[in-house]
Amino acid sequence: MKQSKSLISLEDLTKEEIIKLMDLTTMIKHDQLYSMELLKNKSIGLVFQKPSNRTRVSFEVGISQMSGNCVYLGPEEINLGVRESTSDVAKTLSRYLDGIVARTFTHQDVVDLAKHADIPIINGLSDLYHPCQALTDIFSIKERLQRLENITVAYIGDGNNVCHSLMLACAKVGIHINIATPKNYEPDQAIVDTALKYAQETGANIKVTQSPEEAIEKSDVIYSDVWVSMGQEEENAKRINDFDKYQINEELVKLANPNYIFMHCLPAHRGQEVTEEIIDGEHSIVFDQAENRLHTQKAVLNFLFNTWGAF
Ligand code: CP
Ligand code: NVA
Repeated sequence: MKQSKSLISLEDLTKEEIIKLMDLTTMIKHDQLYSMELLKNKSIGLVFQKPSNRTRVSFEVGISQMSGNCVYLGPEEINLGVRESTSDVAKTLSRYLDGIVARTFTHQDVVDLAKHADIPIINGLSDLYHPCQALTDIFSIKERLQRLENITVAYIGDGNNVCHSLMLACAKVGIHINIATPKNYEPDQAIVDTALKYAQETGANIKVTQSPEEAIEKSDVIYSDVWVSMGQEEENAKRINDFDKYQINEELVKLANPNYIFMHCLPAHRGQEVTEEIIDGEHSIVFDQAENRLHTQKAVLNFLFNTWGAF
């Protein structure tokens, strides 16, 4: 019987575990645990079906900093479900590796890897979720604002993987979130319902609207993501047209709290979802956010392997 834990979505973590993960991330970031060989003799595979800068590099560097070994397996090597079945990939890699970070198109591929593997699977982005990003995001919010209480996040754009995980993370820790998307680009209703259930326990407010102005009003954090996610390239022209009114720019941010912070998971398209003035301006924390992927994921690996002993 399989014993390993996986991180497929934020639903896999309790509020208490998320808080502990954030504390561990702080310790890792500020060097207390830097030199410990927490992944010694462990090999982690990166099974990536899509391109990546931050996720790939931050996992590879983080694993190496903890004395682990990393094996990158791009679409040319492991063509999930095409070259061989996802279950055969999971069973084979379980014989070599201690864990897998998977970046896939369909979310079911990550679920199937976890179902058939004997080792922890970490979702490094699927079409439905991006949990490592969301854990980093709430860590970055707490780091910058020094609290989790009385914070409102305004997510403006596509109700996509990043939006889903951010909404769940906020709901789990009690951060209010307003989501503004064009009609037909709303977050998945089943995931909104799950977030609402968590929000009942933590007191978070979750609002989904089509009005960017309503969402951003008096917000402390403004968040955006690309309008065209990986795999949606054929919809490029339609999406750019549909999202036209959802750009974060000087005019829109006037409605936010004057001390707002701007966040973006990156990669970004300046001139589309956000203007250069905003993403490169004084309120933006996007590169702190990118850096924090490294520290957060080191904490996640320790959580899944229990090499630190806090969980
Ligand atoms: N934010 C993020 O996941 O970036 P990459 O796609 O470059 O990994
Ligand atoms: N929503 C984007 C996030 C990239 C990190 C995508 O899936 O392409």
